[in-house]
Amino acid sequence: METLKSISLRKSVRSYKPEQISDAVLENIINAGFKAPVASSKYDSLHITVIQNTEIIKKIVVSAADMASKTINKKIDWDFGAPTLIIVSSTPATMPGIEFANAACVLENMVLAGIDQKVDSIIWGGPTIIIKQDAELKKSLGIPDEFSPVLCASFGYAADYEEPKEHTISVNRI
Ligand SMILES: Cc1cc2nc3c(=O)[nH]c(=O)nc-3n(C[C@H](O)[C@H](O)[C@H](O)COP(=O)(O)O)c2cc1C
Repeated sequence: METLKSISLRKSVRSYKPEQISDAVLENIINAGFKAPVASSKYDSLHITVIQNTEIIKKIVVSAADMASKTINKKIDWDFGAPTLIIVSSTPATMPGIEFANAACVLENMVLAGIDQKVDSIIWGGPTIIIKQDAELKKSLGIPDEFSPVLCASFGYAADYEEPKEHTISVNRI
């Protein structure tokens, strides 16, 4: 599939079938993450965690949603049912925002590699809320001490088909 076609098909999916993605598909997704640009080429400032245990994913997303719901005093449902969750963690960067920029580049590459293989996804921050606050959970997920979770993406197959949304961003040209 052409890159522009993959980009045009990208959309955030919030409801998934239980069917897991294959190891070969996952490998391509992870390798696409490795191909992302990273500030100052500091690839060792990032760490990728792949979770495919759906019980663990559920525990994380439900706890994160409970915590976020309390903060904004409104019920949030983050249990999308996606069978794969990828978390990008980072060491502290010297320039503001670099951790997020790096993680977003890695995850967007992964998302596009997913679309190319007919895998749906969503980039989101929710799960990081709970992992950041729960040292034991962070340790159990094998995230090294010096790294902190920044951004995540869920992967799987959409429960229902939805058209990608049209968006625009303001542009000025000189
Ligand atoms: C950094 C980032 C964080 C996001 N966090 C959430 C989130 O916490 N929950 C959610 O449902 N969607 C989240 N999204 C998805 C956006 O809401 C989504 O990309 C946007 O509404 C545009 O829709 P589309 O991706 O379907 O085109 C996030 C996206 C990005 C890039």
